Amino acid sequence: MMTPELGVCYYPEHWDEAVWKVDAQRMAECGLTWVRIGEFAWSQLEPEPDRMEFDWLDRALDILGSAGLKVILGTPTATPPRWMLDKWPDMLPVGEDGRMRRFGSRRHYCFSHRGYLSECRRIAELLGRRYGQHPYVHAWQIDNEYGCHDTALSYSDSALEGFRIWLQQRYQSISALNRAWGNAFWSMDYDSFDQIELPNLTVTEPNPAHTVDFRRFSSDQVVAFNKVQVDALRPLTDRPLLHNYMGRQLGFDHFRTGRDLDIAGWDSYPIGFLSDRLDASESDKLRFLRQGDPDCQAFHHDLYRAVGDGRWWVMEQQPGPVNWAPWNPAPLPGMVRLWTWEALAHGAEAVCYFRWRQAPFGQEQNHAGLLRPDGAPAEALAEAKKVAEELSELDPLQPIQAPVALIFDYESAWVIDTQPQGADFSYFGLVFDAYRALRRAGLSVDILSPDAALDSYRLVLAPGLAVFGQNLKARLAEHSGTVILGPRTGSRTPNVSIPLPLPPAVPGLDCQVDFVESLPPASRIPLEGGGSFIRWAESISGAASAIIRTESGHPALAGSQSLAYLAGWPDHGGWDRIIHWACESQGLEAHSLPQGLRMRDTAQYQFVFNYSPETTEWNGLRIPPAGVMRHPHRQKADGT
Ligand code: GAL
Repeated sequence: MMTPELGVCYYPEHWDEAVWKVDAQRMAECGLTWVRIGEFAWSQLEPEPDRMEFDWLDRALDILGSAGLKVILGTPTATPPRWMLDKWPDMLPVGEDGRMRRFGSRRHYCFSHRGYLSECRRIAELLGRRYGQHPYVHAWQIDNEYGCHDTALSYSDSALEGFRIWLQQRYQSISALNRAWGNAFWSMDYDSFDQIELPNLTVTEPNPAHTVDFRRFSSDQVVAFNKVQVDALRPLTDRPLLHNYMGRQLGFDHFRTGRDLDIAGWDSYPIGFLSDRLDASESDKLRFLRQGDPDCQAFHHDLYRAVGDGRWWVMEQQPGPVNWAPWNPAPLPGMVRLWTWEALAHGAEAVCYFRWRQAPFGQEQNHAGLLRPDGAPAEALAEAKKVAEELSELDPLQPIQAPVALIFDYESAWVIDTQPQGADFSYFGLVFDAYRALRRAGLSVDILSPDAALDSYRLVLAPGLAVFGQNLKARLAEHSGTVILGPRTGSRTPNVSIPLPLPPAVPGLDCQVDFVESLPPASRIPLEGGGSFIRWAESISGAASAIIRTESGHPALAGSQSLAYLAGWPDHGGWDRIIHWACESQGLEAHSLPQGLRMRDTAQYQFVFNYSPETTEWNGLRIPPAGVMRHPHRQKADGT
């Protein structure tokens, strides 16, 4: 149990040295204790190949550390300097359209390029040797936002070479690959691994097994890239290593990079995400315009808690308008405080604001910071300060295990997103809808990888888990709580074909999916008793009894209180019924929270957050817009 802390992202190389000291003092006065630096500074650290300029960084560390701040030092590998391209002209990533992407922004490298990989090892070692034991460097960030700007997949010659080797290792013989991929279909058989191309620029869609293997390979390349820097730094430093992940980023398996690191950081831009990255309705986009989606931040907090195996941070917290979404409104007063407290209630060890001072040059000129470009306080500074004061008066927050587990699987996302079968079917969207419903019921949720222990969860949901491993199947079949599978759970083998016997094929659940259909936006299949299926419905047969039926009498949720299969994508009303039924089965208290009100339990407290733009009354509480309430947690009789 530790007291959470606040911090900020800072770019000493953007400012005259004369202001560093004042900046550092102001950060400390504001109650910030962490400062992240260096993650984009390669051209300043090595202006020419092998000519290092560490002096400025030495001075910056000294100034920041002397002010009492703890530094997170970034390896600068997300922004290779221009000279690097003279050395390695083919290191740039190649888009799906086959065109090489260019220098002039960031993340201009292909994960598969061995030359660039050796440069990353070299710079990580140089930094590790110089700063690994530095008294003011308390943590390391490796690279920044893997996969951002669509860079997890690169269709370069290096990727092609790596992919062929990867396939050879996976399948051993070309006939095994032909069988696994089902290449008898459309005469796609290969005679040798050297004939296999990357799955872009085909006449129509490529074989889904080919695409999913390319996704797996690309994910492995990110894991390997990260590991090179981990291996370079580990012998040189005993400080924790972390990466700064993104919201709704499915380009690689974060659980696997997470295993090599100590902490998972992620970037929380609630207003930007609502406008840019979520499939929210137009009315929700308006209602939550200045607050962000009420579930998006919490979802990622819970996901990254799992990725970091319990240790996670918000590495970048939106402080005001951003510059990159289609529209960029300012937060409602109080929201920066609310977002910060919500992260802390979900167990963040630290929340760092992005960034200290707004940059008057470069791509992000309209991105707010805690200070304006002239150094005057921006709106968020006072809110950050307030949280720091509040934190100093509070006992450390003690996390709890949530009663509900929601399984999240990157491989299933690749499988479903390769063959969505309905234009608006996304794996993330399905899992997120389930999460929203759990939150509307006021439940605290743990998001788990398919390998995680499930033992004491009262309720486990595994929607859309297309690739459903035998081990997890057996564990879920025997689980003592309520397990809800489906839709699409177990719908593909690891080779991306339909399994036989037909899915879900789980012991103890006599039900099989006979056929599936997708539905356009205006269409719905009403459920008896309220709610509907939208987007997706499955026709299931078998002896499992129907718990909920469609109005035309087909089973919609079938099975028992221990193990049930959901045969479609429920709308809001449908999900609410299912979650309330499951909670009742388990004797769990389920609320029907007003729109925009959300809760999270820690061991000592129940936190209530108001995302709505008006005062909301609930359960005897009157919570102002952007309000945060915290009251001692009511221990329930059964101790949950
Ligand atoms: C993040 C990134 C930062 C900055 C920020 C702007 O995705 O890590 O470097 O670009 O977005 O919102």
